[in-house]
Amino acid sequence: MKRYILSITLVMFAAGTALSADTINLPAKNGNVAFPHSKHMAIKQEKGCTACHETAKGGKIAGLGKDWAHKTCKGCHVAMGKGPTKCDECHKK
Ligand code: HEC
Ligand code: HEC
Ligand code: HEC
Repeated sequence: MKRYILSITLVMFAAGTALSADTINLPAKNGNVAFPHSKHMAIKQEKGCTACHETAKGGKIAGLGKDWAHKTCKGCHVAMGKGPTKCDECHKK
């Protein structure tokens, strides 16, 4: 029984690690946004990393917030005709 519990704990730990590496939580009062970063790194589009970052090295985004996100995130989804554009598709309570 003890061993059974340990193996479940390990599986959960591994899954949690994978999630934190690929998905960035962007907190918002009206529901946090789970941003799939590696998925976006793989999307073929003109600007590459600088679609969101100031330089191709990436890192923290100084202007990140409601206005930036709705312009940058939603704007690109509308322009590409792919990705969520409705409030509750990004904001999950
Ligand atoms: C569609 C938007 C988008 C694209 C494209 C993108 N990123 Fe990011 N990236 C983000 C956001 C949002 C964050 C979180 C920034 C913050 O917390 O201030 C981030 C964070 C990062 C971080 C910091 C991670 C950390 O742990 O703090 C690095 C490094 C990074 N990105 C590198 C890259 C590189 C390199 C590319 C291109 C191959 C890239 N990103 C493409 C949106 C993007
Ligand atoms: C493409 C994804 C996306 C869509 C669609 C979207 N949002 Fe957002 N929204 C974000 C992100 C990302 C942030 C910034 C979160 C942060 O700064 O950590 C944000 C921020 C906000 C904030 C500020 C929250 C705070 O804590 O200050 C509000 C309010 C908001 N959105 C409302 C809406 C409403 C209403 C809609 C629909 C009309 C909507 N959003 C659609 C991604 C989205
Ligand atoms: C340069 C264009 C671009 C930008 C900027 C961008 N996205 Fe996306 N996003 C896409 C595309 C294209 C898809 C569809 C990917 C697919 O279906 O393979 C997508 C899909 C998504 C999805 C759904 C992923 C899934 O697994 O279904 C979420 C959530 C998302 N984007 C959130 C965001 C947030 C939050 C931001 C801003 C921090 C953002 N996106 C910025 C192009 C972009």
